Amino acid sequence: MRLLLVVLKPLCLLALFGSCPSATIRPKEGWQVYSSAQDADGRCICTVVAPEQSLCSRDAKSRQLRQLLEKIQNMSQSIEVLNLRTQRDFQYVMKMESQIKGLRSKIRQIESNRRALLTKNFQELKGRMNDLQPLIPVLDQYKTDATLISQFKEEIRNLSLVLTAIQEEMGAYDYEELHQQVLGLEGRLRNCMNKLTCGKLMKITGPITVKTSGTRFGAWMTDPQALPNNNKVWYMDSYTNNKIVREYKSISDFVSGVESRTYNLPFHWAGTNHVVYNGSLYYNKYQSNIIVRYSFDSGRVMTQRALEFAGFHNVYPYTWGGFSDIDLMADELGLWAIYATNQNAGNIVISQIDPLTIQIQNSWNTEYSKRNAGESFMICGTLYITNSHLTGAKVYYSYSTKTSTYEYMDIPIHNQYFHMSMLDYNARDRALYGWNNGHQVLFNVTLFHIINADDES
Ligand SMILES: *[C@@H]1O[C@H](CO)[C@@H](O)[C@H](O)[C@H]1NC(C)=O
Ligand SMILES: *[C@@H]1O[C@H](CO)[C@@H](O)[C@H](O)[C@H]1NC(C)=O
Ligand SMILES: *[C@@H]1O[C@H](CO)[C@@H](O)[C@H](O)[C@H]1NC(C)=O
Ligand SMILES: *[C@@H]1O[C@H](CO)[C@@H](O)[C@H](O)[C@H]1NC(C)=O
Repeated sequence: MRLLLVVLKPLCLLALFGSCPSATIRPKEGWQVYSSAQDADGRCICTVVAPEQSLCSRDAKSRQLRQLLEKIQNMSQSIEVLNLRTQRDFQYVMKMESQIKGLRSKIRQIESNRRALLTKNFQELKGRMNDLQPLIPVLDQYKTDATLISQFKEEIRNLSLVLTAIQEEMGAYDYEELHQQVLGLEGRLRNCMNKLTCGKLMKITGPITVKTSGTRFGAWMTDPQALPNNNKVWYMDSYTNNKIVREYKSISDFVSGVESRTYNLPFHWAGTNHVVYNGSLYYNKYQSNIIVRYSFDSGRVMTQRALEFAGFHNVYPYTWGGFSDIDLMADELGLWAIYATNQNAGNIVISQIDPLTIQIQNSWNTEYSKRNAGESFMICGTLYITNSHLTGAKVYYSYSTKTSTYEYMDIPIHNQYFHMSMLDYNARDRALYGWNNGHQVLFNVTLFHIINADDES
């Protein structure tokens, strides 16, 4: 018997059989007869079976490695996103720091030259300085965070190199150990992401005008739960008497007006406070406090349920009216309904909603009158409320569902086109989507967050 040895691929195994496979031995699934030789009488003298072309990729270790590598690549992408975000905030933080430094040196100057200056100015400056004082440790922490991220990035790059090397020379490394390393990194990445995406709202910049279209009132949005390469835009013009949702494949299709689909909803909507979340549209059914969940995939209403006690049909709208009684929104923590009830004296109630059943999971009563709110949006479980839909609007009040406490604030928002009929946060883009008097606009937000080095290791 003659043995043939054929190396197909460095990582593939080769098996040799002494007889022809046809009748007696069938190669195992995933193996193929690579070559066989017969003697003059047609008897089989040797068969070489080799893994099927695809078996190499089915080989367990190699497949696991490929998954690891893919994971690492995914993580690198996430790190890139983090980095972008951090850099954006970092600039803001640096500016703040230089302001503090400026104040500090001014105070020193004044102190050394006190008699020459008015006490009043001095007191004022000192007051501002005291306001900023608590920020100093935060700023230091922030710099540490930035270092952490870049270290993290380097670790991932290192691991990625190791993995690539191992793929070429498999077996040289303990797979389990490697796996543990990746899991560890993944955990840290998740921590890092959560910390970085969640923070306190500090500043709103913009808007940039994406498009000018539709009536004065409407809504447009993307799905914060969609995969990174899915940037579909949904567009719902007008606050009443409409049930046509327009879909665009991307922001640029939206800008150029290339529609990909339209959906004809079974019921009209009320207001402009709809949200698309995880492939479904959630909206307030006209003249009711019913929330409808409509699946874009199936084109059907999956669930509808009354939001108990919620005022509707301009009983408790935002300042601009427009049946904006029930505001649906999503943030990092899930789906929310913002509304008002008689029980809470017309003040805003925050309810976390189960996305499948639309049942209320938890509610918080605020003391902010819904009719005096311009708009509201949720970031990381904190509701931010503007005081007007008109020029000069600012974020005026916030309520944290984590601590059940409120706070007054003063964060200006540039109401470029004078009338805001929709303002919602998108956690994926970390941006506010707005409908500004027939203009579809986007605002950036700066969130302040601290990563604890302890949580990172
Ligand atoms: C990497 O990301 C892609 C797209 O988000 C996803 O389909 C894939 O499952 C991820 N791979 C791993 C190993 O997590
Ligand atoms: C990455 O690899 C380089 C070179 O081997 C090494 O100096 C560095 O300490 C490694 N970084 C991390 C974070 O492991
Ligand atoms: C999104 O929908 C998918 C099924 O379509 C489900 O498995 C997943 O749990 C949902 N995610 C959230 C956050 O609701
Ligand atoms: C938000 O910030 C990013 C990064 O700095 C920038 O590219 C984008 O244009 C900004 N968007 C808005 C709406 O200001």
